[in-house]
Amino acid sequence: MSESNYIENIFAQARQYNKTIVLPEGEDERVLIAAHQIREKKIANLIILGNTQEIEKYFVDNGWSLDGITLINPAQSEKLSTYTELLYNLRKDKGLTQEDAAKLALNPNYFGTLMIKAGDADGLVSGANHSTADTVRPALQIIKSAHKDRGVSSMFIMVCNNKPFYLSDCAININPTAKELADIALESADSVIQFGDTPRIAMLSYSTYGSGKGESVDKVKEATRLAKEALLAPEYTNKNILLDGELQADAALDSVVAKKKASGSNVAGQANTLIFPNIDAGNIGYKLLQRLGGADSYGPILQGLNAPVNDLSRGCFAEDIVGMVAITVLQSIK
Ligand SMILES: CC(C)(COP(=O)(O)OP(=O)(O)OC[C@H]1O[C@@H](n2cnc3c(N)ncnc32)[C@H](O)[C@@H]1OP(=O)(O)O)[C@@H](O)C(=O)NCCC(=O)NCCS
Repeated sequence: MSESNYIENIFAQARQYNKTIVLPEGEDERVLIAAHQIREKKIANLIILGNTQEIEKYFVDNGWSLDGITLINPAQSEKLSTYTELLYNLRKDKGLTQEDAAKLALNPNYFGTLMIKAGDADGLVSGANHSTADTVRPALQIIKSAHKDRGVSSMFIMVCNNKPFYLSDCAININPTAKELADIALESADSVIQFGDTPRIAMLSYSTYGSGKGESVDKVKEATRLAKEALLAPEYTNKNILLDGELQADAALDSVVAKKKASGSNVAGQANTLIFPNIDAGNIGYKLLQRLGGADSYGPILQGLNAPVNDLSRGCFAEDIVGMVAITVLQSIK
């Protein structure tokens, strides 16, 4: 698949559904340009939060249609009190007061996330002007994990030499345990399938099949064992998921090295899904691929939530937002 084909294919899939995605950062020009492109491409209906008069003027000045786009100023929304009450009820046991709920509900990331919780939107894309933590926290608190014994993690889609690679977890879990790492691999398998691809998962390490020793190697070995065990469950058996570890990145990706270091592996040399042992490795890895390898990156895409909320890099371009909205549409399909 070529790079443009990859994202075009995601757009084509998203177009089949009539989903509504919230963009909480209506003050950002990149978000408005992306919104226009999303409507032109018919990828999703949109709700943009912000100063409705200013946004409307921007669209009119550019001669763009607002068809399929709803503008909401949280402070003037008739739903504000409903969302405030919803937030208070969800978080009062955590010590949230009514006064704090009223303040938080005005925050666009909280307001947008509450729209999803209330069933008024299908997903949210934010982060052009917010840190990962500020975008992700409302989702963790309000939308919550889909699996009660599994955490939320993140994935980057890297389109590299015209091929997609799926990298996890580069943005959420700082130092996952073996169980958490296994869960990240399983969530990643589901995400890759959701994006129309076949997961070939490498559990990455600085060791291949015992070539190196150390605590983190032991962790990746244990995570591999746990993930392989979980993949025997009926929900996974007909999903065609391949997983192996522990593997170094060269053994995972290069078939010549794979023959030497991990002969017999059904993943080595052909991995497309890379699970990193911790956030340092994952975050540094994806940025090297982007900056030195020239890969296009989409993410962090959150996985394992009850409904999709996705983060943007603050250096993102309008085109990145368009891609993330299409990805969010696919994740919102039950
Ligand atoms: C994701 C992150 C922001 C959460 O931090 P936080 O808000 O301080 O988290 P807390 O520990 O206070 O938890 C807040 C809530 O989220 C939940 N939560 C935290 N991490 C979670 C996870 N991985 N999965 C599911 N829920 C999670 C907590 O259980 C808690 O829920 P509760 O309040 O209902 O009990 C934090 O893990 C983080 O900063 N990660 C690194 C982000 C980063 O800098 N990335 C690099 C840039 S891309």
